[in-house]
Amino acid sequence: MDSYLSSVAARSNSRTARFLFSSSGNSPSGRHFTLMNLLCITLHGAVYSKLLEKARSYEAKKIAATDKESKPLFHISAPAGWINDPNGFSVYNGKIHLFYQYYPYLREWGPMHWGHSTTSDMIKWEQLPCVLAPDEEYDKKGCFSGSAIEADGKHVLVYTGVTRIKLPDGSEQERQNQCIAFGDGLNYVKHENNPVVTGDMLPENCSRIDFRDPKIWKEDDTYYLIVGSKDLNNVGQVVLCSSKNLTDWQFETILAANSTGKIGTMWECPDFFGLEDKHVLICSPQSMKADKYEFHNGHNSVYFLGDYDKENHVFIKEEPHTLDYGMDFYAPQTTLLPDGRRVMIAWMKSWDACVVPDSQDWQGMMTLPRELEIKDGRIWQKPVKEIENYRANKCHYTDKKIDCYTTFDGIKGRTLDMTVELSGEEYNNFTVEMACDDEYSTAFTYNRVAGMLEIDRTFCGVTKDVVCVRKIKIADTDRKLKLRFIVDRQSIELFINDGQQVATTAICTPLQADGISFNCDGSAVVDIEKYDII
Ligand code: FRU
Repeated sequence: MDSYLSSVAARSNSRTARFLFSSSGNSPSGRHFTLMNLLCITLHGAVYSKLLEKARSYEAKKIAATDKESKPLFHISAPAGWINDPNGFSVYNGKIHLFYQYYPYLREWGPMHWGHSTTSDMIKWEQLPCVLAPDEEYDKKGCFSGSAIEADGKHVLVYTGVTRIKLPDGSEQERQNQCIAFGDGLNYVKHENNPVVTGDMLPENCSRIDFRDPKIWKEDDTYYLIVGSKDLNNVGQVVLCSSKNLTDWQFETILAANSTGKIGTMWECPDFFGLEDKHVLICSPQSMKADKYEFHNGHNSVYFLGDYDKENHVFIKEEPHTLDYGMDFYAPQTTLLPDGRRVMIAWMKSWDACVVPDSQDWQGMMTLPRELEIKDGRIWQKPVKEIENYRANKCHYTDKKIDCYTTFDGIKGRTLDMTVELSGEEYNNFTVEMACDDEYSTAFTYNRVAGMLEIDRTFCGVTKDVVCVRKIKIADTDRKLKLRFIVDRQSIELFINDGQQVATTAICTPLQADGISFNCDGSAVVDIEKYDII
């Protein structure tokens, strides 16, 4: 590894130096250089392309001009323009890093860059300059999703380079291949031999067009990549590749596939890791059909628990389950923290419901990172414990009877952590409305008899006809229903019964709508504990 990293660094620097000292500005070392990827050198000595420099200076101006109050307080949101999937969630040099799919110039998806933030506690994030731009022939159509790992002191990013090739008949076709870049936590250099994993390494019946979103890990002395894929019959799958040195890769196996045909088509953004005594495969399949109340139509994020035979690369998977029952959760990625916690973060949106108010010039947020554990054969999630360090103004009510529209002093706000515990059997429907006033509300209604919870954001301010209602079958109705709401201005994450189920919903409600109300068609009893998050 050492030699690979230093040789790439040396080659990359000499390439730059040659270019900088050439008087004509012709392509250095015979490589095809477009205007886009002419290299620049900054005062700090870091090397990057014109396209990256443009993105960095554009985002810096936008960030300086942003009204902070209009953004989430403790969730990552687009520094400028658009963000989607979390990428490269990893620990490096004592910090937690998160990258994301990023198009700084518009609030819509465009040629993908990688944006970058770091944190020590997953609540307060520091914005760092964008790290990747689509500035090479092999990624000119976008630096798509991927992951990161530390290797010999360097931070290594693994991403999908999207390009187009000319076919013999003169037409063009997309190609997705896996690329690497290495860096120091701030600046990253793409490897000279990119792409390092190509679709040509896969069996014949695997798509070369849909082959993306590598997730890397290391086991003993071998690096592994799991990559999203589909076969030529549109069956979603994930493929496993291995390497001893990060540059020379080989195809190992198709680790898992949509064997029942029910789990969508292309499996995007896979993740694979050990959790307690199981292995977990996460993926985000496209084009799913709703299956009762477990999966919804369109883009879903699902997980399979299973057993992994590491020697033979065989994963025996169990039934799939949904990761989040809300409306805005996609492409989750996990990392392992030094203290042993497996933490997951996701894009807090869905391709099927991208909508922001006309006045907002950015789009895209991440969920709160969540700690994962396995209980009763399912993944349970809870907000990272660090959120508790930001709680203030505790407001506590116990044994309050609710039999009509009710509000409580101190129970309101748009950045908060509130738990409501519900008991009693003399009612059918109990409703909590969040972010509400006379015009706006997002309602959470528990139908006790049916054991169903309905989320309705119809009146949250959306101006497009996107999905606004989701119904959740509560897994455990034998206990008091416990609803923990984490609200951060434009989002409501609901952790049901200590994280047995989770439902994430983005809202676009003006911030002055900060009311919280309770209502019941009979008589229920609640305990409420509410903190502001500051
Ligand atoms: C998932 C996804 C990935 C792809 C990225 C492009 O949301 O479609 O498969 O890498 O977004 O931005």
